[in-house]
Amino acid sequence: MIKDELVPSENPLESSPKYRKDLAGGLLYKVLLSLYKSTSSKSRSCLVDLHRPLSSGLQTYQEKPSEFPMKKAMPKLEGPVQASGEAVFVNDLPRFQRELYAVFTLADVASATIKSIDASEALKLPGVTHFLTADDIIGENNYMFAGHMFDIPQHEVFASREVFYNGQPLGLILAETQAAALEGAKHVKVTYSEIRRPIISLEESLEKEMEFKHVRKTVVVGTPTEAWNIVDQMVEGTVRMGSQYHFYMETQVSLAVPSEDGIDLYSSTQFSDICHHAAAQVIGKPLNFINLTVPRLGGAFGGKTFDPALLSAAATLAAYVSDRPVRLNLDLASNMRIFGKRPAFIAKYKAGFNNDGHVQVVDIDYAIDAGFNEHGHIYVSDCATYLDMSYYVPNWNWVGRTMKMKTNKKTVQPTRAPGAVPAALIIETIMEHVAKTLNKHPIQVKELNLYQNGHRDIYGHVLQNCNLMEVWRRLKDVAEVDTRLNQVDVFNQDNTWRKRAITLTPCKHGILYLGPGFGATVSIFCRDGSVVITQGGVEMGQGLYTKVAQGVAHVLGVPLENIRVRPLQSISSPNSTLTAASITSESAMQAAIDAAQTLKERMRPIREKFPDLDWSELCLKCDASGVDLSVRCFNKHKLDDHPTFNYNTYCTAATETEVDVLTGQSQIRRVDIVADYGESLNPVIDIGQTEGAYIMGLGGYMLEETKFDMETGRILSDGTWNYKPPTTKDIPIDWRIHLLPDTPNPSGVRSAKACGEPGISLSTGALLANKQAVEYARHELLGVSDFIPVDAPFTPEKTQQGVGLDESVLLL
Ligand code: MTE
Repeated sequence: MIKDELVPSENPLESSPKYRKDLAGGLLYKVLLSLYKSTSSKSRSCLVDLHRPLSSGLQTYQEKPSEFPMKKAMPKLEGPVQASGEAVFVNDLPRFQRELYAVFTLADVASATIKSIDASEALKLPGVTHFLTADDIIGENNYMFAGHMFDIPQHEVFASREVFYNGQPLGLILAETQAAALEGAKHVKVTYSEIRRPIISLEESLEKEMEFKHVRKTVVVGTPTEAWNIVDQMVEGTVRMGSQYHFYMETQVSLAVPSEDGIDLYSSTQFSDICHHAAAQVIGKPLNFINLTVPRLGGAFGGKTFDPALLSAAATLAAYVSDRPVRLNLDLASNMRIFGKRPAFIAKYKAGFNNDGHVQVVDIDYAIDAGFNEHGHIYVSDCATYLDMSYYVPNWNWVGRTMKMKTNKKTVQPTRAPGAVPAALIIETIMEHVAKTLNKHPIQVKELNLYQNGHRDIYGHVLQNCNLMEVWRRLKDVAEVDTRLNQVDVFNQDNTWRKRAITLTPCKHGILYLGPGFGATVSIFCRDGSVVITQGGVEMGQGLYTKVAQGVAHVLGVPLENIRVRPLQSISSPNSTLTAASITSESAMQAAIDAAQTLKERMRPIREKFPDLDWSELCLKCDASGVDLSVRCFNKHKLDDHPTFNYNTYCTAATETEVDVLTGQSQIRRVDIVADYGESLNPVIDIGQTEGAYIMGLGGYMLEETKFDMETGRILSDGTWNYKPPTTKDIPIDWRIHLLPDTPNPSGVRSAKACGEPGISLSTGALLANKQAVEYARHELLGVSDFIPVDAPFTPEKTQQGVGLDESVLLL
């Protein structure tokens, strides 16, 4: 159990003067305080669903003595303001004088040539002030930038001639109120000289061989052709997965405010540099004309990497042209319509194996739906780096293809673990298929093929400090897998219409220090010794600010309440790369630690001369003695000699589900996870990230179905009525997370490992357990013993149909 080790003074609710002032004695304060205490001391499931039965030890981690306050198990510093609704996001910023509201005019066809755009009727409406199109762009009609590490092709801010997808922005209405802007957008008349039939499905794109061939990626390991001659048996099949929307709570938003020396821009983005650049580029001004601020985000999950640059460019152009502040905040339906998502994929596989279950060779033909341009190829490459996931297979032949719709869909966006999510589903399916053919439990086959310390991965690197077997063994133990497998068998024999299954899913998630690095500035105010930090990472809920503050508090030896982390600004954190790939928290923390250490060194002579001064007196004395109390350090990323990943995070989950055979509804009965996060920087945050990642995976693998109108190419799933992300009832009834103790990571910051993404692929287990349950039912009711193809999301409809019942069975 998580030990209640927080002393009252470290509790942000109790220690924050603001809270004492505003909330002391109030009901809200008491509720928050009890939630706070419950998260720090016991189960967190009571936070998410009060109606669920609580089981003992819902979440645990192995206690490890930690130095104060780095590595301390404590909730996020901004947890209380987020839970109470007081957190301020971009669209919560108060209205500026003379502010205008902006709404996009969107294409309602998917592939066409624009003939005319007429806003004259819209401009007659009360409150409507401006309409902007590609013709009004002063600089470049492009919100991407060339020469970046991802080498992203041009994306127009407003379509100038060709429409490439339904929902593409064609122009921007500005008005005195949001309602007037929305009304105005409805009155813009667009005519097209040619409307073409869109190609929407990945199947059709494959059929018509519409591949961006120049970005095809292949991976050959060992001697796959020869290997086929020595295997005993083979399986082949197809794995499919649809696209997934990021479903952050705060929709995309930018606010641009003209000032005497340029534009003050506020954006909800994971990638400040691209927004900064797009804003300057669209009005043809130097970068120092734009002062960008990125407050904390209301979630992002990869969806705010590239696309927010579109809003930053459009809002900046509008503010510059109108010389008035412009707010561009999207409603959910437009947000789901305009932006790219996780790419859908189809993978055809063939696997050859020995009779004992050892897999010897795997061939995969992998194709993704990239949208209207080849930018999607980076997600194909990403899948290539993860394709082996947790298994040692000596021979691989993998072909990755980037399929284009003739035009017709927005280019895909990175979505949490873009490479690992498809790779895990494919290889886990293969292992389950092999097991089915050999009439073994998948757990046995998976265990036989797991990577072990000393194995070479597909890129030829020897795996050192590989804890995969260790987390697997511990999981089997803590989750009592053998006993529960027997219980599942008994349950299935006793119940016709409900079936249960347990499966184990391992994960080796490679972590790469992507991008040049992150900078942090740590400053001490000499009059009271309070500390402020600005750094290049974006807080989007992952606990980055907390970890950064913990590191600085630790080095300077000051309490956490003396420290504030302020939002990223382009003036203090210029050239900041994207917050992604799970490495930002640790990388920004390292930069802040370096800065704090430099400060400490600078202060040392004064400290030695005046050993009796308290902290604030020391700061004042340092300032009076000419010590500069502000330091910026940059944590430069290095790849060492490992070209693929800096290190691997290992984790494993045991998932037990129960399926209602008649309705296809299912319930996750219990999930146990053992994760190796090295010496965790903050176990409470890391456990929260594991939970969040698992649940987000559940959405992609089981629930969230993106649908399009095949005629118009318009997205049909544009809200929660028709698109179903996981909610409280999808959370496992009994959930236990354990962190592997005593495993310092020699290649990570402060011996820790990243935790933001790895847990997502573990929820393949929920899909595969449901599929197994369906197969038990088919065997019992229909007498067939087949392997059902994996088609994610494996929704209740697909689960029910997978059983294949007809009336004759129901009459039994
Ligand atoms: N957690 C919350 N609450 N909100 C988010 O948007 N994004 C995830 C993960 N956890 C996300 C999150 C993604 S996609 C990544 S890559 C990592 O956080 C980023 O963590 P880092 O800042 O440590 O790199």
